[in-house]
Amino acid sequence: MNVDGKPYRTIWRASEGKSVEIIDQTRLPHHFTTVELRNLEDAANAISDMLVRGAPLIGATAAYGICLALEDDASDARLAHAYETLMATRPTAVNLRWALDDMRTRLMPLPPEQRQAAAYRRAAEICDEDVGICSSIGDHGRDLISRLWDAKDGTGVVNVLTHCNAGWLATVDWGTAIAPIYKAHDAGIPVHVWVDETRPRNQGASLTAWELGRHGVPHTVIVDNVGGHLMQHGQVDICIVGTDRTTAGGDVCNKIGTYLKALAADASGVPFYVALPSPTIDWTIEDGLRDIPIEQRDATEVSHMTGRTAEGEVVTIQLTPDGSPAANYAFDVTPARYVTGLITERGVCEASREGLQSLFPEQKVMSAS
Ligand code: MRU
Repeated sequence: MNVDGKPYRTIWRASEGKSVEIIDQTRLPHHFTTVELRNLEDAANAISDMLVRGAPLIGATAAYGICLALEDDASDARLAHAYETLMATRPTAVNLRWALDDMRTRLMPLPPEQRQAAAYRRAAEICDEDVGICSSIGDHGRDLISRLWDAKDGTGVVNVLTHCNAGWLATVDWGTAIAPIYKAHDAGIPVHVWVDETRPRNQGASLTAWELGRHGVPHTVIVDNVGGHLMQHGQVDICIVGTDRTTAGGDVCNKIGTYLKALAADASGVPFYVALPSPTIDWTIEDGLRDIPIEQRDATEVSHMTGRTAEGEVVTIQLTPDGSPAANYAFDVTPARYVTGLITERGVCEASREGLQSLFPEQKVMSAS
């Protein structure tokens, strides 16, 4: 996507070739800065400190982390160390494991002297594939929005509610949940987005609002508890969210608060869709509530908040009284029965094993063997 007229992806190999550049998402929306990752530790820290975040981008960064790790030593032991170090960065988004498994499977059979070049080739492919996948998700999701627009007989606007940031910043480009919105907007369909602020880290208020603003998409930031009220009053035509891990049975793990939006959508008859690239499907598990590890992050993300003062200084302040403990569950699981459909790169399906297998029949063979 364009930032101030210049096309960007969220991650790219530096022109000198020995490092990787990212957008530092902890500094948005007030400062747009890029950061150079020079080694394995830089890549691991960028993921755990959330300079990069969003399931697909975490996977892409991990792939490049392997490349950086092999700079001076591409031995089996070094590859194993890099795999373990990156795998330990964040527990919930399954794209991390997907990318690391993919890299290790391709690199291990090669002689060490060929590994780094092969790693860079594959990391670049993973990024290109992600862009293609997200673009296709956008096309399929745009068709859903287009049908809602047709039903309005050319009046008003299609109101979409989204949670957290599943836009281009969460992927390599386009986004997952936001890709259909960009495609609909670009096709001339009038779309307005309700942006959940998404406490505690405010990815909606900071990142989704920034992205939509840059692309000229009409949007309104709301606090996390507003969605139910809007849905009761007919002000949401469709919810579209992303996911960090979706099980083979269609249970959806996403940013904390997603489940409550799905319940509200169910109660008000609002369609609730989840947009996901296939590397976000965990074919090894069926029951999301039981089997998906939920990340718990530092309590200071709840007790404190960062923002810009009227003087333009970005500062962090404390919200809670001294001594009050805070809990910081980063994700929740929405059972498949509350999900109207899954928007994948291969089309839209029911949130169920049968639905997913109708689009990904090769996985039927794998899970049965
Ligand atoms: O903790 P984050 O910012 O990495 O979480 C990302 C999300 O949960 C997003 O909402 C998104 O839906 C999944 S990534 C496309």
